[in-house]
Amino acid sequence: MRFWGFTIFFYFVFCLWIGGVGFYIYRSHPTDKIPGNIRGILVDDPVGRLKVYIYELPSEYNQQRLQNHPRCLTHMFAAETLMHHFLLSSPVRTLIPEEADWFYAPVYTTCDLTRNGFPFTYNSRHFMTSAIQLISSNWPYWNRTAGADHFFIVAHDYGACFHHNEKRAIERGIFPLLQRATLVQTFGQRNHTCLKDGSIVIPPYVDSQKMQARLVPSNTPRSIFAYFRGQFYDLVNDPEGGNYARGARAALWENFKDNPLFNISSERSSTTYYEDMQRARFCLCPLGWSPWSPRLVEAVVFGCIPVIIADGIVLPFEDAIPWEEIGIFVAEKDVPMLDKILTSVPVDEISRKQRLLAKPSIKQAMLYPQPSQPRDAFHQILSGLARKLPHGNEVFSP
Ligand SMILES: *[C@@H]1O[C@H](CO)[C@@H](O)[C@H](O)[C@H]1NC(C)=O
Ligand SMILES: *[C@@H]1O[C@H](CO)[C@@H](O)[C@H](O)[C@H]1NC(C)=O
Ligand SMILES: *[C@@H]1O[C@H](CO)[C@@H](O)[C@H](O)[C@H]1NC(C)=O
Repeated sequence: MRFWGFTIFFYFVFCLWIGGVGFYIYRSHPTDKIPGNIRGILVDDPVGRLKVYIYELPSEYNQQRLQNHPRCLTHMFAAETLMHHFLLSSPVRTLIPEEADWFYAPVYTTCDLTRNGFPFTYNSRHFMTSAIQLISSNWPYWNRTAGADHFFIVAHDYGACFHHNEKRAIERGIFPLLQRATLVQTFGQRNHTCLKDGSIVIPPYVDSQKMQARLVPSNTPRSIFAYFRGQFYDLVNDPEGGNYARGARAALWENFKDNPLFNISSERSSTTYYEDMQRARFCLCPLGWSPWSPRLVEAVVFGCIPVIIADGIVLPFEDAIPWEEIGIFVAEKDVPMLDKILTSVPVDEISRKQRLLAKPSIKQAMLYPQPSQPRDAFHQILSGLARKLPHGNEVFSP
């Protein structure tokens, strides 16, 4: 009797332990729907659901900047220039402002690059003010709503806070003239001064042809367990450590540099990076100075399960893409347990995520192909704008 009592007791404790650990380590999302139409809205066709009027601005606000810096068509923030080109020939464009649902001012704020190729935002506020003065004095539409039916692409690090340093960006806040407009931006961090409610969060630009050119056969085994290339420390801007990536990248390196499951390094060989991602099961996407990076787009395109380590991140097109089902979310404080977390993801969960990632509609939503294709990021932006229609009365009572 006593013996069985003990056995049953231990069995019970053992179950609790297994169940507890399993629960603690990996919270599963057991919905196995893999429809072609993942969430209806991902494949929505925005054409016919909104009309956009494009202000014609002097070329100093757009084309001239592009001529000085052609790289603005291919750098991370290229959505700003490419969206303009896309809209010019889009069927949603209207030449009759009275019938427009949305007004768009093509102002290339990030297309002013320093010698090192970084966007120079020092002038952005002044530049934006001048553009808005122009549209508000030459057309009646801005004053009618104080900009509430206008949208702007503000792809830079902290969106319309227009400063590359987070502390300064927060101090300044969203540029007051844009308070009522809808902002289309790469920066997404929940409850952050620089992310206004109702903004549309978009993926950064990654060259889809370059990725396409590096595809390996789809049956290539995913022999790398967890993969990461990038900096772990930023000794220049964060010499003491702890601020850059809020310490998450440092923890990644310190805990797993010698772990055979982890192929992580700060040396990024441009010759095999894309191939490696196709050979990896998990692609680590920790925050850097910003919560996002192009890695997320690359991981999705290459079918590598993104492991998102960025507390409070707001992901691109969150209302359309089932990120919880595609990726794995790990709290920044849990980085030291990353090996246990990732090895405890059940095999069927992994294949379910991989099947979802293989869906062309998800990859397409992350890309800005030239020429544009149905359901790509351009269309997702339009769908996001269409979903905000019809405008409520508050739009017209500034
Ligand atoms: C819009 O308002 C500004 C500031 O009050 C004014 O200067 C401008 O003339 C107005 N625009 C139009 C088209 O009336
Ligand atoms: C949002 O941020 C403010 C100040 O930064 C903070 O007081 C508040 O608790 C935060 N809310 C949430 C839900 O995190
Ligand atoms: C990590 O990946 C690289 C490819 O970039 C490969 O050459 C190397 O052998 C891998 N290292 C380990 C320890 O598997």
